[in-house]
Amino acid sequence: MPARRAGDASDMFGNLEILPPDPILGVTAAFRRDTDPDKVDLGVGVYRDEYGNTPVPGAVRAAEQAVLSEQTTKVYVGPAGNLEFNERILALALGPLAPQLKERIAAIQTVGGCGALRMGAELLHAAAPDAVVHVSDPTWANHEPLLGNSGIALQRYPYYEPSTRSVAFDQMLGHLERLPPGAVVLLHGCCHNPTGVDLVPAQWDAVADVLERRGLVPFVDLAYQGFGDDLDTDAAGLRLLARRLPTLLLAISCSKNFGLYRERAGAFAVVAENAATARAIATHQARIGRRMYSMPPDHGAAIAARVLSDATLYRAWADEVAAMVARMKQLRSLLAGRLGARRPDLDFSWLTRQKGMFSLLGLAPAAIGALCNEEHVYMPPDGRINLAGVSDTNVDRVADAIVRVLERS
Ligand code: LMR
Repeated sequence: MPARRAGDASDMFGNLEILPPDPILGVTAAFRRDTDPDKVDLGVGVYRDEYGNTPVPGAVRAAEQAVLSEQTTKVYVGPAGNLEFNERILALALGPLAPQLKERIAAIQTVGGCGALRMGAELLHAAAPDAVVHVSDPTWANHEPLLGNSGIALQRYPYYEPSTRSVAFDQMLGHLERLPPGAVVLLHGCCHNPTGVDLVPAQWDAVADVLERRGLVPFVDLAYQGFGDDLDTDAAGLRLLARRLPTLLLAISCSKNFGLYRERAGAFAVVAENAATARAIATHQARIGRRMYSMPPDHGAAIAARVLSDATLYRAWADEVAAMVARMKQLRSLLAGRLGARRPDLDFSWLTRQKGMFSLLGLAPAAIGALCNEEHVYMPPDGRINLAGVSDTNVDRVADAIVRVLERS
């Protein structure tokens, strides 16, 4: 082997150490390596059917076929992406408000919901480099890396009270009350990740009051619309804020509700104070995208636009989303029931009150380690479980494993 000299091009990457696995994606890798035939994956947040598969919804598949059969070119879609997609996905999120706010909206198609969050962070950093984004404690494991990597400063606000498994609302409000004008508050639109604990309408109202009074800017992450209750109810908090606040940032993902995970379809939008500001923001969004990846991919957004613009496909898709939610609610009851049957002295009803795919088990790190390494039931280190990974077939195995580690800890 030729000798290396410091500063040599051949040594350019020699000082890089192997990084630890991603807290969520690493679970998928560990699960795949495990050869236990009864292993269970409650890790990454993807919907699963009773066979453990993550299906492409029928309406989405039909839309995809239509898109492919009608496509005549692969020419670039343009910096803002598919404009029909942007308009329709915002109409889905904002409902009846969308036409009223139209002139004040600057929207851009993004590389999934993550791309939307990053676009928002980059825009904030460009427009207000000293702004601080306040994220919930806890929050999705990738929020802080993804937003913070833009250079924007981050802080946490209290959100979850483990003893009651509910929102630490007084502490949350107290934190917001102390923020300076212009501080940005990242809120999960619905199905809070990782706690499953959402604000109720009266709490959204109270949050809107503080944001308005203190001049704070909401940044809503809407990654699970339709997975909590239904497509409209899940957007009610967002719509309330969009109605009342002069400025709002919004990140939308089509990964979960459209099942378009690998297509990376999403959107970022700012509802700006006025139309002139929105027009300026649109140019900055386009420039940020151009400098990072030039233009978004077409396929996923074209499929979602098709579903949203065809009344028959839309109805079929909305029914499929409703069926997914019904199944997740049923799985929450199923697991709570099986755990309760094993430990009638403990209350597991919180599982049935929480929303979306996730809940926190609330076990110590050693117990979570034992679940993964000894019981072959996989989840991220914070003890977040994806309820969609539970099934009629594995629920007893999961309940046994949880109760075993509970009794040891
Ligand atoms: C999750 O929270 O598991 C999903 O949003 C997937 C991801 O990228 O982390």
